[in-house]
Amino acid sequence: MSESQVASDEEALRLRALDALTAARSRTALLTTCVDDHELTAQHSPLMSPLVWDLAHIGNQEEQWLLRAVAGREAIRPEIDSVYDAFEHPRAERPMLPLLSPAESRAYASDVRGRVLEVLDQHPLCGGPLVDSGFAFGMIAQHEQQHDETMLITHQLRHGPAALDAPEPPLGGMAGLPSEVLVPAGPFTMGTSAEPWALDNERPAHRRELPAYFLDTAPVTNGAFLAFVDDGGYADERWWADGGWDQIRKHDIEAPLFWRREGGQWLRRRFGVTEPVPPEEPVLHVSWYEADAYARWAGRRLPTEAEWEKAARHDPVSGRSRRYPWGDGDPAPDRANLGQRHLRPAPAGAYPEGASPLGIRQLIGDVWEWTSSDFLPYPGFVAFPYREYSEVFFGSDYKVLRGGSFAVDQVACRGTFRNWDLPVRRQIFSGFRTARDA
Ligand code: AVJ
Ligand code: FE
Repeated sequence: MSESQVASDEEALRLRALDALTAARSRTALLTTCVDDHELTAQHSPLMSPLVWDLAHIGNQEEQWLLRAVAGREAIRPEIDSVYDAFEHPRAERPMLPLLSPAESRAYASDVRGRVLEVLDQHPLCGGPLVDSGFAFGMIAQHEQQHDETMLITHQLRHGPAALDAPEPPLGGMAGLPSEVLVPAGPFTMGTSAEPWALDNERPAHRRELPAYFLDTAPVTNGAFLAFVDDGGYADERWWADGGWDQIRKHDIEAPLFWRREGGQWLRRRFGVTEPVPPEEPVLHVSWYEADAYARWAGRRLPTEAEWEKAARHDPVSGRSRRYPWGDGDPAPDRANLGQRHLRPAPAGAYPEGASPLGIRQLIGDVWEWTSSDFLPYPGFVAFPYREYSEVFFGSDYKVLRGGSFAVDQVACRGTFRNWDLPVRRQIFSGFRTARDA
């Protein structure tokens, strides 16, 4: 490669990092200016941080990684590190911490960002794994977007009138589509060693051999899930894994979170608006236990994580794994419902341009999809750049979710991206699709 080629590649990387950081910050700004200071500092749910904690935590992580670790600068406000350390303080306790005020949090995050832009302008994007290909900048853009999804969950949990608005997603419909697709037996490449901003748990690429299986063409809809509810699925212990039965009994759970029966009709609350549950839309706000119970009731099962990824990435023609179901090109508005562009999933069968080679729809975007798999490291996993991103969560406590929701930005969503949560969690933008052995 010529010297000028290297220089222009580096220029392209800087622009990509700048775009990703800027997009994340406008999303953060929207989520933290659409409500007043009281709402920013309130605890809307013990499951969540006050929004103002997320805001300053975003700035603090950016400072730690891009100003201190990459550029070797001194801490701007060393006394606040521990307040914004997610491991020192569980979410429920964060409202009691000496948090920066909304104005101080904004000023701090924007002070950090101003200095980061200087670093991004000048620091070489090669010479070590933290900066190669602009990794740390990509990681921090992803981190901010992940918290933007977390903050959107807080907005959903919040009571009171709507503060956010967005256009409706495109139409869908399953007419003419098969309900499931056969994925033939054979090996495929899982994970990645090539994607420059892939996080540690997505690495390295490795071969997996899978028997043939059937996978739903689209995520399970509210209408389909309602048949399980109406059939007494929540009252029938047969369908429930051990911890799941205990949880629904203890908390009197009888439908997805935010649903309410009124007269003969199911309603749901969505970002401050109560509306009839739309039957064609993928079901949202179900726990792993609820997804697993539905699948058993339907005579099916959740897909494994490997089955999900093979469906989303394997190209049967070339035998190669691609970045997305539609190929290697970036997400676009006609391919996937991402980035809080719409504040709900699109109906099942939407996004024909985003279909996989086998015709499977909506693998990326709309709803996070629960898989049957525990969150475990791939063979050859190396924690990078910090153990607390993934490694400390590995084990049988957490289940993997795949594919991203309407609330996650494309920078933090790809065919290899792995999310995880406890099997009881249902405030997240979680849905699922089902599978069966062929
Ligand atoms: C990958 C979504 C499980 O929110 O706990 C944010 C992302 N890690 N800050 C989380 C994360 C550190 C993480 N999840
Ligand atoms: Fe974080």
